[in-house]
Amino acid sequence: SVTRHYKFDIRLANVTRLCHTKSIVTVNGKFPGPRVVAREGDRILIKVVNHVPNNITLHWHGVRQVRSGWSDGPSYITQCPIKRGQSYVYNFSIVGQRGTLFWHAHFSWLRATVYGPLILLPRHNESYPFLKPYKELPILFGEWWNADPEAVIAQALQTGGGPNVSDAYTFNGLPGPLYNCSKDTYKLKVKPGKTYLLRLINAALNDELFFSIANHTLIIVEADASYVKPFESHTILLGPGQTTNVLLKTKPQYPNATFFMLARPYFTGMGTFDNSTVAGILEYTKNVANTNSNVNSSTTSKYFPLLPSINDTTFVANFSNKFVSLNSVKYPANVPKTIDKNFFFTVGLGTSPCPKNQTCQGPNNSSKFAGSMNNESFALPSIALLQQHFFGQANNGIYTTDFPVLPLRPFNYTGTPPNNTRVSNGTKTVVIPYNTRVQVVLQDTSILGAESHPLHLHGFNFFVIGQGFGNFDPSNDPNKFNLVDPVERNTVGVPAGGWVAIRFLADNPGVWLMHCHFDVHLSWGLRMAWIVEDGKFPNQKLPPPPKDLPKC
Ligand code: C2O
Repeated sequence: SVTRHYKFDIRLANVTRLCHTKSIVTVNGKFPGPRVVAREGDRILIKVVNHVPNNITLHWHGVRQVRSGWSDGPSYITQCPIKRGQSYVYNFSIVGQRGTLFWHAHFSWLRATVYGPLILLPRHNESYPFLKPYKELPILFGEWWNADPEAVIAQALQTGGGPNVSDAYTFNGLPGPLYNCSKDTYKLKVKPGKTYLLRLINAALNDELFFSIANHTLIIVEADASYVKPFESHTILLGPGQTTNVLLKTKPQYPNATFFMLARPYFTGMGTFDNSTVAGILEYTKNVANTNSNVNSSTTSKYFPLLPSINDTTFVANFSNKFVSLNSVKYPANVPKTIDKNFFFTVGLGTSPCPKNQTCQGPNNSSKFAGSMNNESFALPSIALLQQHFFGQANNGIYTTDFPVLPLRPFNYTGTPPNNTRVSNGTKTVVIPYNTRVQVVLQDTSILGAESHPLHLHGFNFFVIGQGFGNFDPSNDPNKFNLVDPVERNTVGVPAGGWVAIRFLADNPGVWLMHCHFDVHLSWGLRMAWIVEDGKFPNQKLPPPPKDLPKC
């Protein structure tokens, strides 16, 4: 294993899409940002220098960050923001992971333009547990905003209403031909008869996306940097924060043909969203070795794939049920067979009161939108929690350790919404000892419409041991849990009108954010933090912070 050095200069750059030129925050002037590539076992050092007026932090989404919580990146959770003129070196190792992840800004809505692929290759002498691909290509799904995304969310939080939506979805930053005044289309150039590994990343802010390529089948082989038992699908669903590797076998019989690939949202909630479609092109190039074969090289066909309808929850449930761990001798699924702590968290939206001298545009025109777990909307503290925790300052009022372990006001979660939609506000955490085996049942609520929530946990992979529709039934549903080969992920969709159960081993000391990866719900407070205490032995403790850790 080696140490890999990167330098990330946070800089403004002019970018033009949909006939709008604007100055956006970038890394090294690139949109999307540069690739980070490493092998399992490597150490990565990324020096981030902030040259822009915006505060920023970067998060290495899905990296376990074993005993390196200071490098995780969510602002006010593991670090204070990097201000203009300051720099910070993120320093972490890749432990037991290979596959596709991504990195993104974790401050306000800067993730809209500040994101890029994080590619984790197997160790040198190791191969993939599937056919060796001819080529590997990342495809990042994103959003394009003609407006300034930070201003969009600032205004929404001010008025309490829903934010404006983006103007386009993108593949690798390019909206494609289905948008007005769009001149930039992603082209995937392939040769016939080869196997390509597509590293798919959903970096969109607020949308789960269906993705499909006309006339081609995808073989899913990995999810969130964990190998899965390969399965085929014409269409995939990728939540924001999720990544997946798929094999694309190109046809031997289509030289010089083109096919469309499309992505558009899956959405069941209330309110507005960007109901548009990004298109890219799969383009076969002539295989030089085949020029004398009997194919008609002048044939050009254009096909559109058929995507599920916008609210096709049945497709989504069936698709997510297909994921199981590879669970081979080499890559076993180490799911905790027994648990020490069992939690039940409701996940959903609610309301908080409108300040007295203000008119709010939230639900009923008199409140503010809020996101909550167990009726608690999480407020960011003014000093990073990890510092406060590390220096033993829990009791200075920055945060408390009384996050409710059960919903405050139980109701029929997936039935008629309750009259009282109010949430509480605070910075409440759950403290668990080192090596606690944790189970969490995440229950969607229909308080403001049943909606799927892509829930992301920092610092751990978890096993998805069960999911279902309706209210979780503690006396029957656990009998159906998969404790043999459940898929291992860092982000899972809490089903619209249903529940999902996860397990993880809390073997990583630190403070770990868990949140909905829709940035709008994150901003509304749909988040909480776990504090995992140090273990007894030196190799079970979080080391002290690096000298250059930014101060608030
Ligand atoms: Cu990808 Cu806390 O985020």
